Amino acid sequence: MEKPCFETLFEPIKIGDIELSNRLAMAPMDMLFSTHDGFVTEQSIAWYTRRAKGGFGLIITEAIFATKMSYQFNFYKNFCLYNDLFISSLNTLVEAVHSFGAKIFAQLTIGLGRQGRSLDGTPAYAPSPIPYEVSAEMLPETFKPMLGSPELEKYMKGQTPREMTVEEIQSEQERYVEACVRAITAGFDGIEIHAPHGYLLHQFLSPRSNKRTDQYGGSLENRMRFLVEIAERTLEKVKNVIPVGVRMSAAEHMPGGLTLDEVKVVAKKLEDMGISYFNISDGCYEALKYFLPESIEHVKNHILKEAAELKSVLDIPIMTPSINDPALAEQAVREGITDIVELGRQSIADPDWPNKVKQGKTDEIRKCTRCLQCLMRMMSGLQPRCAVNPEVGFERYDQTLFQKRRKGAILPDSFVKWSLAQMIQVSK
Ligand SMILES: Cc1cc2nc3c(=O)[nH]c(=O)nc-3n(C[C@H](O)[C@H](O)[C@H](O)COP(=O)(O)O)c2cc1C
Repeated sequence: MEKPCFETLFEPIKIGDIELSNRLAMAPMDMLFSTHDGFVTEQSIAWYTRRAKGGFGLIITEAIFATKMSYQFNFYKNFCLYNDLFISSLNTLVEAVHSFGAKIFAQLTIGLGRQGRSLDGTPAYAPSPIPYEVSAEMLPETFKPMLGSPELEKYMKGQTPREMTVEEIQSEQERYVEACVRAITAGFDGIEIHAPHGYLLHQFLSPRSNKRTDQYGGSLENRMRFLVEIAERTLEKVKNVIPVGVRMSAAEHMPGGLTLDEVKVVAKKLEDMGISYFNISDGCYEALKYFLPESIEHVKNHILKEAAELKSVLDIPIMTPSINDPALAEQAVREGITDIVELGRQSIADPDWPNKVKQGKTDEIRKCTRCLQCLMRMMSGLQPRCAVNPEVGFERYDQTLFQKRRKGAILPDSFVKWSLAQMIQVSK
């Protein structure tokens, strides 16, 4: 029998104990579909479930605010998990995604730091009191017509944050781990620690934004301490129950910023500590053209090369975004440059990308044109829409996305495993 062309992309893979049915993940993306106070809506459920139905083996949620303090400096609208009230609707989301056979990981953030926004003048907290500033040449070309608009201006220069105290760092870490336990109760299959794109954990890692003189600043060992401590506390609590991964930008791409060589050291340290996968991205909000590449040439010249370098030092699976060309995606996995291909904007444009590729119908893929209207709308405080996919934002009207619950499964698997792990600990 003739083998399908994209067979490697559809091989299963294990992350910790969790088996994914293929090598295709939907990248974490905040679409502003939650309520303003961080609860899941029917539109959130339909949005994610539509991508599970389209064949993605793994769905990674948008950055979820793990602590109340992080939520207070929200820029847009994201899910929250800083108290028990949030568990229930997240569990409904998890069940809906599971009903299509996909796994779902919770991306949990400890905050946006200086990239957050204060609405009442209270300064946001960061490693050091240095505001961010975006220069026009670091914007993708498609953004240039927006220059001068009040929406973009608001985003070009951040507010001056205050320095986070050591007590805050440590209490926020405790709150973070509490949210991880809630994610288990909600039934998530994995946890992703959010440390990319110039947000709080990245700010601590970067010598540009971290000028501290205490144990959290200075050497790379000190700058990575905040992330390492969170990973340590999270792993200690949940590792035997669900896998924990980390997302980081492979490089900051700003003068004096975090380099790929440093990221390799951090990634290796995290792997040695027991994380189950490493999810890469690139750049930061100040280097947006790396974070949201516009062409496949850029992808080949940057993130694919960075992925190969990281792969050379890691044994755990890695995930890489932006490879939206099926042949290149297949090649990247086959050649071992990445283990999982993660699609962000392409999954907005066509949620059926995996199924179409599996069936060899690549000419039917609705291609993302990289127009970035999704992000420009988001920066204007509007829910993202898509220039090529009119369904985006209206998925909730599709009744086929709300399946009946799996027969038999009453408590989430992760919750049962968690309870057993506690019993074993108590009886020791
Ligand atoms: C609308 C939008 C929202 C995003 N939100 C998040 C997020 O919450 N967490 C995160 O780690 N990355 C976020 N990203 C970045 C994507 O995960 C991804 O890294 C980026 O879009 C590049 O991949 P792509 O070329 O496949 O789109 C977002 C991107 C977009 C376009």
